[in-house]
Amino acid sequence: MAALVSVNVGLPKDVAWQGRTVHTGVWKAPVDGPVMLRRLNLDGDGQGDLAGHGGEQRAVLVYQLDSYRHWRDVLGRDDLTPGAFGENFTVDGLPDDEVCIGDRFRVGDALVEVTQPRVTCYRVGLRLGEPRLPALLVAHHRPGFYLRVLADGEVRAGDELVKVADGPERVTVAEIDALLYLPGHDRAAVVRALRVGALSPGWKASLRALLDEPADRPGNPGLGAVAPPPAWAGFRPLVVTGVHPETADVTSLRLAAPDGTPLPPPVAGQFLTVQLAAGLVRSYSLSGPPAGASYRISVKLEPGGAGGRFLRDHVRAGMTLDTAAPRGAFTLDRSDRPVLLVSAGIGATPLLAMLHDLAGHRSGRAVWWLHGARDGAGHVFAAEVRALLAALPSGREVVCYSRPRPQDRPGVDYTRAGHLDAGVLGGLDLPPAAVAYVCGPPGFMDDVTAALTAAGVAEVHREQFSALAAQTPGVRPAAAGPPRSRPGPGPTVTFARSGVTAGWSDGDGSVLALAEDCRVPVRWSCRTGVCHTCETGLLSGDVDSVPEPLDPPAAGTVLICCARPRTDLVLDL
Ligand SMILES: Cc1cc2nc3c(=O)[nH]c(=O)nc-3n(C[C@H](O)[C@H](O)[C@H](O)COP(=O)(O)OP(=O)(O)OC[C@H]3O[C@@H](n4cnc5c(N)ncnc54)[C@H](O)[C@@H]3O)c2cc1C
Ligand code: FES
Repeated sequence: MAALVSVNVGLPKDVAWQGRTVHTGVWKAPVDGPVMLRRLNLDGDGQGDLAGHGGEQRAVLVYQLDSYRHWRDVLGRDDLTPGAFGENFTVDGLPDDEVCIGDRFRVGDALVEVTQPRVTCYRVGLRLGEPRLPALLVAHHRPGFYLRVLADGEVRAGDELVKVADGPERVTVAEIDALLYLPGHDRAAVVRALRVGALSPGWKASLRALLDEPADRPGNPGLGAVAPPPAWAGFRPLVVTGVHPETADVTSLRLAAPDGTPLPPPVAGQFLTVQLAAGLVRSYSLSGPPAGASYRISVKLEPGGAGGRFLRDHVRAGMTLDTAAPRGAFTLDRSDRPVLLVSAGIGATPLLAMLHDLAGHRSGRAVWWLHGARDGAGHVFAAEVRALLAALPSGREVVCYSRPRPQDRPGVDYTRAGHLDAGVLGGLDLPPAAVAYVCGPPGFMDDVTAALTAAGVAEVHREQFSALAAQTPGVRPAAAGPPRSRPGPGPTVTFARSGVTAGWSDGDGSVLALAEDCRVPVRWSCRTGVCHTCETGLLSGDVDSVPEPLDPPAAGTVLICCARPRTDLVLDL
């Protein structure tokens, strides 16, 4: 019979960590006497970051005495006391390789159910001063697990945990943890795990994503979108075969192989990265049809923009540009569901490639082209879009001009005056089964995503033409300036989206730490090669991995928390 050895609680507090402040509830301390266990928490307990921890599915974290003994021996630690792994229940019994998702236990007056393994997060490593711990917990098959509370009640140290129901399918905590985080991802086992109703929705979504991608493609789709492998490594010279003005401030370029051989076809929605000059690296979505002898990109010449100015002043037909292979996971799905292509301004480019693809295949899908422009002078690709929509049996268009000119004709050049916003989208009777692709300024994408979600459209994909927002769980925001370049004795690392280049020095530890020093927005959770949150496109160069990631990242990407440059690098960050 399993026993509750210790009930541990703790409220979030600020702790200093690597020169930053982290708001965390990972410090838990044992409680004497009874504690009330409710749907979201034990009384007196809390989590610092509710996006990653806590909530109904993760109300109680459980860890076992046997694992304490294991880590005492492996890590040589004799200072591990109950609560040290951030758990609420320290238990004797209930090993991770026996407890199953969906198992139910009566403990004290409460009834609880196993929902998922522990979240892989750096904070358990922070708590114990052992940064490798998130990876070790997975690699040693000792993650611990979460409970949801089916009936509130008092619990106390010494209570027995009495099993009252077996989880269906008998999928153990250790097994499902390995299924997601370690190589293999046995599809039959994933299907079996998905039959367990008690599994938390987050884990179900991750396991479903594993099934949606081809099994032989490198990368872990359960932990993040996996793009098709890039067609070539690094940069190769492509020759500019045409320069074509679309509007006063948008110019299209055609790029082809110097020997005229066909270029590998991209997937509609992908982008190219071009090395315009030393240290001047910019990405542009492909805007033309996927198949063809050349690639087309369409560039908005931003006033004062370095890349736009270079293109305007220097790029002519006949010159070569070093170009990385088409990349990106913002790609058109192959279902027969209705598709919404929603853009503002130059954000139309990847969606135009998708529209070309749909028209080229004479797709029977219902296709909505929803676009916002300032006026007729800024309405890029207007004629091209109309011709493509006309080739589709079920294509329709809504174009909003925020500031139409007197000569712009309502009902002819544009559909409505005003912004393409929630009011417009809400009145369109959009099909909830649709899949939506959205591209434009970040604020536009946020508004559109909210409006589409409110209209019942569940699947919304977004492409951002700049650095992605940072994701630094629990770290208190500190005043920081814009990204900055930095010298260093080692290889140079160019962060393409942020437009900065830094020199490596061995004290940096990882490319992630170097990016942080340069104030480049970064995304991470475990910082030790498990969660893939930091997976980043490697546009050129080679890295060493320290430590080795538990499951390799997708082709053409690196986990920057484990990466050290072996050569100069260009990263899609
Ligand atoms: C995946 C992806 C796809 C993309 N697709 C496209 C596409 O299809 N078409 C396209 O046109 N762009 C696209 N972009 C954006 C593109 O890569 C460039 O970021 C964009 O063109 C601006 O580059 P720039 O060098 O001209 O301007 P930058 O020099 O990067 O400057 C950007 C803006 O900031 C302003 N600025 C620059 N320096 C300062 C300063 N010190 N203080 C204040 N303001 C400043 C400039 O005036 C300019 O308006 C894409 C980006 C990504 C990541
Ligand atoms: S932050 Fe988790 S793998 Fe890099």
